[in-house]
Amino acid sequence: MTPLSGISNIPFMMESTRGFRSRHLAGLHKKHRVIRIGPSHLSYSDHSAIKDIYGHSTKCSKGDFYDILSGTHYHLADVTDKIEHQRKRKVLSSAYAIKNLADWEHKIADKVDRLIKQFDTRCTTPLLPGNKPVQEDLSIDYRMWTNFFTMDAIVDIGLSTSTGFLDKGNDETIAELYDGSRHIVSYRDVLHSNLTAQSHLVWIGEWFPKVQKFVQMVSSKYNTMFSKGPLYDGIVLHQARERFKRYQSGEKLDEFFQALMESKNGQQHMLEWGEIVAEISIMLNAGSVSTAIAINNTMYLLLKNPKCLVTVRGEIDSVTEEGETVIAYEKVKYLPYLRACVDEAMRIFPPTPFNLPRKTPSEGATIFREYVAGNTTVSMSSYVAHRDENVFPDPETFRPERWLGEEGKQLQPYFITFSAGARGCIGRNISYLEQLVITASVLHRYEFALPYMAWEQHRYEHFNLVPGPLPLKAWRRPVKADA
Ligand code: HEM
Repeated sequence: MTPLSGISNIPFMMESTRGFRSRHLAGLHKKHRVIRIGPSHLSYSDHSAIKDIYGHSTKCSKGDFYDILSGTHYHLADVTDKIEHQRKRKVLSSAYAIKNLADWEHKIADKVDRLIKQFDTRCTTPLLPGNKPVQEDLSIDYRMWTNFFTMDAIVDIGLSTSTGFLDKGNDETIAELYDGSRHIVSYRDVLHSNLTAQSHLVWIGEWFPKVQKFVQMVSSKYNTMFSKGPLYDGIVLHQARERFKRYQSGEKLDEFFQALMESKNGQQHMLEWGEIVAEISIMLNAGSVSTAIAINNTMYLLLKNPKCLVTVRGEIDSVTEEGETVIAYEKVKYLPYLRACVDEAMRIFPPTPFNLPRKTPSEGATIFREYVAGNTTVSMSSYVAHRDENVFPDPETFRPERWLGEEGKQLQPYFITFSAGARGCIGRNISYLEQLVITASVLHRYEFALPYMAWEQHRYEHFNLVPGPLPLKAWRRPVKADA
């Protein structure tokens, strides 16, 4: 990456603090398919390296990076030992199984309904052609509301409870610390502050704990960001404790928490409390952050590409019934153009774009047709992979059509938004359900306008590619559902 990258991780760390390391890497990878980004870390860009690094038969595994960031107990996403991972995946497979779809759908539909109630009260008069919205009409921050939506949805799906963010219109919630003290915090603030600080420094490897301590001493900015980590953990702890009390009092529900406690035939899993809390933590984090980003990005890119918006609306309108506010999943799950828009948005802006690090086994491995020594970190950023022009011509252009038909199907192995192989995303079915239902429902009911056509949304990369606010003007569409 720089001549210094061969002897130090500091250049990559510095790049991370600039806020869009994957875009920088994508630029460098235009010339080089393999780049050394640290003394023992190789970044790849060619699609043929995907299966070597992440595929089902890869010899590589998760390593130090995940160990460094893990808490007292591993969760499904950061556990590094393959056998332990299989054990966890078995316990959780019933919780994430596709057969739960009907139950998830009913919970998600409830949240879309709540979101629509809020949007209805914020609707304005139609925008006249050729005009741009006045400031006070930009009454919906779509980014914020869709994050409330995914958080409310995952807390209900996982723990059968409510954070009430959609009804309140804010994300204030209780964080409970191990000493028993309770604090009212902003969920998004405490989550993203800590992730930002970690994502700057984690690349230093085994030195991370020492560097973190030092940076906290010399920088009040980092001290504040890191100090919010325990508050995010406190949100999780509070939710876990409340749900556990209900479980103890005999409440049996068919959801994630129940599956963590016992198998379908009532056999106790006997997990340690720390492991239960860790699994709830990753479910709430992975289950809300990335999907909210994806939902935001689809809307942003459709508004920037009005022809695609017209096409997708036509498709959605063709399957909707009179008076249907929340569109049923059954109706939207096979809409090819809607799905193509969602996938194209996740291709251009993958919500988790960073180089997911994998370690080669001690005997080494063949990556991208070349031998790589043992214990080397190898990785590929989905942001970079999705800009491989041999697979995705004209990669910066939003073109949902590329996903249609037989040609579109052939692109799937190179679409690594959800990663791939045994460590690929376990929650993608929940995510697609949320993305398709909310996007179809709001596009069917409202017209939206950006502040002006050339307006650009800010993005900041920590482990996720996090969009800034998306201020929109909204007004009701005169469609069948208005009857
Ligand atoms: C657009 C939405 C989503 C994206 C882009 C996404 C992306 C990813 C990626 C890239 C990984 C691999 C991470 C790594 O290698 O370190 C992953 C794993 C995981 N995701 Fe997702 N995810 C999404 C939605 C969800 C949802 C809704 C849930 C839960 C309800 C979830 C739960 C998980 C879990 C538990 C893992 C770890 C799986 C394992 O290692 O066995 N994700 N996700």
